Amino acid sequence: MKGIILAGGSGTRLHPITKAVSKQLLPIYDKPLVYYPLSVLMLAGIREVLVISTPRDVPAYRELLGDGSSLGMRLEYAEQAEPRGLAEAFAIGRAFLAGGPCALVLGDNMFHGQDLTRVLSRARGRVEREGGAVVFGYPVKDPRAFGVVEFDEGRRVVGIEEKPERPKSSYAVPGLYFYDGGACDVAAEVEPSERGELEITSVNNAYLREGRLSVELMGRGMAWLDTGTPEGMLKAAEYVEAVQSRQGYYIACIEEIAYRRGFIGAGRLLDLGRALGKTDYGRYLISVAREGERE
Ligand code: DAU
Repeated sequence: MKGIILAGGSGTRLHPITKAVSKQLLPIYDKPLVYYPLSVLMLAGIREVLVISTPRDVPAYRELLGDGSSLGMRLEYAEQAEPRGLAEAFAIGRAFLAGGPCALVLGDNMFHGQDLTRVLSRARGRVEREGGAVVFGYPVKDPRAFGVVEFDEGRRVVGIEEKPERPKSSYAVPGLYFYDGGACDVAAEVEPSERGELEITSVNNAYLREGRLSVELMGRGMAWLDTGTPEGMLKAAEYVEAVQSRQGYYIACIEEIAYRRGFIGAGRLLDLGRALGKTDYGRYLISVAREGERE
């Protein structure tokens, strides 16, 4: 399975912070925001990833992440000329996906929780075995800014509504989606919504109409953090700081994940740590690598 990170958009909701820099490159505590969704794809065991961003910002992503070889991965880049909507990822990524299954993650979505790796491998396995699509439902206090799941009396999913004024449930659909190889063809049929965007919700509803969408509900043990406002970003940073300083384990440390998933060995991890100089992040990588060498 391949992965796509959608890291474009106009970022207007965070102006002036994002006037000159892509939102997904901003720091969440000690690492760029895009590390968090990238780490989710890596935890799903995905090693080939397409990063889509604006013509202005693609060079910065390339500089940050390179071709992925230092992580034992293959990273490619593509431009989205205008933010025409999330479903355009499939038109841009068609050649990259070459008809295979994929996980799409939005570059500003952060997930953390004990169950995450299991949830990811279950979704991946289901799509690879049975086809169709898997999305998630996550309970939030105010779901109006999201895609929202609608259930019937039997708790069966009957639809997803994009940014409804009167949500029919409290389950928002996070920006993490698993699709079979047919997603590009499904997305090609999508028409712009009333707000003029090619909605990912339209792709998901098309799968649902064919009886091929599974909505997995995430429990309260999972954190899906909001980065849509300055306050959300601050709270997300505080969350990362609190967990990391308490546990001593890093969240979304892409080099550590590459090592633990077997993409790279302890020697490479040590080199990556040393290259980061005397930062806490660099020292952390070195300590993980040394622990690995002792085992
Ligand atoms: O975060 C989850 C939500 O993401 C879902 O619940 C919604 O169903 C989905 O439509 C989306 O809603 P948002 O309002 O959060 O989408 P937004 O326009 O903010 O875009 C999400 C990310 O994708 C953001 O980092 C910018 C990037 N983006 C967005 C568009 C429209 C692109 O790279 N290209 C685009 O064309």
